Amino acid sequence: MPEVEESGGAPSRGEGPAVAPRDPGLPTAADVDRAAALLGPVVPPTPLQRADRLSELTGLEVWLKREDLTPVRSYKARGAYTVLAGLSEEERARGVTCASAGNHAQGVAFACARAGVSATIFLPRTTPRQKRDRVAALGGDQVEVVIAGDQYDDAAVAAADFAAASGATVIPAFDHPGIIAGQGTVAAEILAQSAALGWSPDALVLPVGGAGLIAGCLTVLGERLPGVRVLAAEPAGATSLAAALAAGAPVELDHVDPFVDGAAVRRVGDLTYRAVAAATSTIDVTLAAVPEGLICVEMLDLYQVDGIIAEPAGALAPAALRLPGVLEQGGPLAGLAPGSRVVVVVSGGNNDVSRYADIVERALVHEGLKHYFLVEFPQEPGALRRFLDDVLGPDDDITLFEYTKRNNRETGPALVGIEMHSRDDLPGLLARLDESRLRVEKISPDSPLFGFVFS
Ligand SMILES: Cc1ncc(COP(=O)(O)O)c(C=O)c1O
Repeated sequence: MPEVEESGGAPSRGEGPAVAPRDPGLPTAADVDRAAALLGPVVPPTPLQRADRLSELTGLEVWLKREDLTPVRSYKARGAYTVLAGLSEEERARGVTCASAGNHAQGVAFACARAGVSATIFLPRTTPRQKRDRVAALGGDQVEVVIAGDQYDDAAVAAADFAAASGATVIPAFDHPGIIAGQGTVAAEILAQSAALGWSPDALVLPVGGAGLIAGCLTVLGERLPGVRVLAAEPAGATSLAAALAAGAPVELDHVDPFVDGAAVRRVGDLTYRAVAAATSTIDVTLAAVPEGLICVEMLDLYQVDGIIAEPAGALAPAALRLPGVLEQGGPLAGLAPGSRVVVVVSGGNNDVSRYADIVERALVHEGLKHYFLVEFPQEPGALRRFLDDVLGPDDDITLFEYTKRNNRETGPALVGIEMHSRDDLPGLLARLDESRLRVEKISPDSPLFGFVFS
C-alpha cells in the first residue's frame, strides 16, 4: 500500500492506532457536506434500493445506489456543479470548457444550465449520438457543443487551446478537489439513507475510472465509517488504479480496452490517487479487475430481470459481485459474513441502444455459449453439408459463416460462429470437430481475424 509522508505528530505503535497526517491539498468530509448543501436543490438524492437478484445470488444484503436516476443519468453533475459553485464572478463570466466522451459533458452541461454559466464542450467524433444529443439538450442555451477530432485526446487538446485563448475555466473530469467533494456526496447520501433504514453498510462497491468517485467516497468514509470495506471495481482492460497503487504513484497504462467508456482511463488523477492512497490507512480497500464480458452479462440481467438500464461503467460495480469466489478466501470480499449489507453504486445509465448487439455477443462469449472457429473446408463437394450433419449438435446454431479469402469466396478457411444452448455442449462439439478430420482452429473473439472479416 502507498506510503504516507512522516509527520512528528502521529502517535507511535503501541500508543494506539497510527493516525496518518492529513494531506492539506485534499478535500475533507466537511467539504463534501458543503457540496451536498449546494447540490440539494439541483441534484435530488438518488434512491437506495434493495437488490433482490444480487442478494439472492450472493447471500448478502445487496443495496443499489441508483446514480442512473439523476437528471443526467450518472453521478457526474455532482462534481461539475460543485466546481461551478466555487468559481468567482469573474470566472463565471468568462465561462467554462471541458472535453469528454460523454457523461462528464452531460454533467457539465446540466450544471451550467442550472448555474447560468456558459460552456463550450468538446466531444470527440466517436461520442455516441445518444450522448451528443443529451449534452445539447441538457445544456440548452448555455452550452455550445463542438466536435473535435477522432479521439478523446484530440477533444482535450481542443478544450485546452480554447481555454488558453478565451480565459474559460477547464472543468476536469476527475482530478480536482471540487469534483472529488461533489462525487463524495454519493457516499454521504448512502450513510444518511442507510442510517434512516436503521443500519450502516458493511461494504461499498464502487466503480473506478480516473478515481474521482472513489476518492470522494473514501473522503467521507475515512472520517465517518472507517471500519467499512470498499471494493474498487475497475474494468479488466483498464486497471489504472491498481497500477498506480502498485507503483506508488499514477502511471500510464500501455494499453486500454475502451469498451467500458467512462471507466476506461489510461491514468488515474494525481489528486484522486493521493486521496485514495491516504484513505487506505483507515479503510480496507480491495481492488477487483472485472472482465468486460462479465460486465455485459450483468448489464443484461440488470435490464431484463431488474428493469434497470445501465451503461457498461454503470454495471461495473454490480458485476464485481459476480466475480468467481468473490466471498471466498482470496476473493475480493473474502471474510464478509452472509447477510452483510453491501451498497453497490450503479453509476450511470446512458447506454446507446445500438450497443446492445455487441453487449449480447460479449455476454454469450463470456458465458461460454458462443464460440468461434476457423475451419478449413476441403475443396470437394459436400464438405459443408457433412460439417452441418456430422459436427453440429441438435441445439447448436451457426451465427456466423464467412470465407476469409475475399477473392475466393466459396472455398478455403471460413470463420464459423456457433451458439449453443448450454456450455456443457462444448466438449461434444470439440470431439466431433476432432473426428471430422477438418482442419479447425478455435479462435478468440479478440483475434484480429474479426477485424478482417467485419472491416
Ligand atoms: C457511469 C460512470 N461510472 C464510472 C465512471 C468512473 O468515474 P471516475 O473517473 O470518477 O472514477 C464514469 C466516468 O466517466 C462514469 O461515467
